[in-house]
Amino acid sequence: MKTFRDVASIRREVERHRRTGHTIGLVPTMGALHEGHLSLVRAARSGHDLVAVSIFVNPLQFGPDEDFTAYPRDESEDFERLGGAGTDIVFIPAVEDMYEAGRSTTVSVGPLAAKFEGAHRPGHFDGVCTIVAKLFNIVRPHGAFFGQKDAQQAAVLKRMVRDLDFDIEIFVCPTMREPDGLALSSRNAYLSDDDRQRATVLYRALVAGRASLLEDGDAAGAESTMNRVFAEAGVAPDYAAACDPDTFEAPSPARSVLLVVAARVGPARLIDNMLISSEELKGVTVRAAGG
Ligand code: PAF
Repeated sequence: MKTFRDVASIRREVERHRRTGHTIGLVPTMGALHEGHLSLVRAARSGHDLVAVSIFVNPLQFGPDEDFTAYPRDESEDFERLGGAGTDIVFIPAVEDMYEAGRSTTVSVGPLAAKFEGAHRPGHFDGVCTIVAKLFNIVRPHGAFFGQKDAQQAAVLKRMVRDLDFDIEIFVCPTMREPDGLALSSRNAYLSDDDRQRATVLYRALVAGRASLLEDGDAAGAESTMNRVFAEAGVAPDYAAACDPDTFEAPSPARSVLLVVAARVGPARLIDNMLISSEELKGVTVRAAGG
């Protein structure tokens, strides 16, 4: 596994591989790697000749009161995990390398990025899109791998790739969960034992919302069910909603529905989601909230 810390040297390395016809799969991360990240590395490994992983805690995607400084960083642990999962290249730049003084360009995806996470974390998706666009230009991958846990991020990045004509295929890999359903997240490290127990509320709300939607197709009912599960656990969600998985607008009949939740549990702000496919919804008429 080779490590690169500056833009010029990783560019040289990937160009050398491109010239020999190798395909490149990129897994962008912020480090603090867990099984979810490693599943992305393995997915990239199975379809590409070269697997590159970037580790960069991107200041641009954190709000002023968010956890940029506290975000867990453990380079040697990350390297060990990446080596075991079959990574060829690690790109781990410094903030000054990625954002030179005087930078003034931001990639902004519009309405899709303004809902849910975008509404609760103003500027977040601009930060994500800007860094991912830069990584795409630097590493020039053929495929890029993201987790379904960040479903809105994946949808926003797909929109960006289409709108800006990046010749890159976006792969979205399943959410990895603990045995009790909690989605793996680097931020789970913030949870005390008590918070860790309470954090299962996100998954429990999704399971209950899913059952409710499959029963009668009522999106508003599914949202009430999810909110009830949160209330019983004494956790106030930022949102608990049913939406269209591509547009994040209200769900439409005969299409898949995505349930999305976000909540602060102790010091950690956690998100999760659950997709209910159009096949599962066959025979159920989905009615949008308020419809
Ligand atoms: O999902 C993440 O870890 C980050 O948002 C990403 C895609 C690496 C961009 O910083």
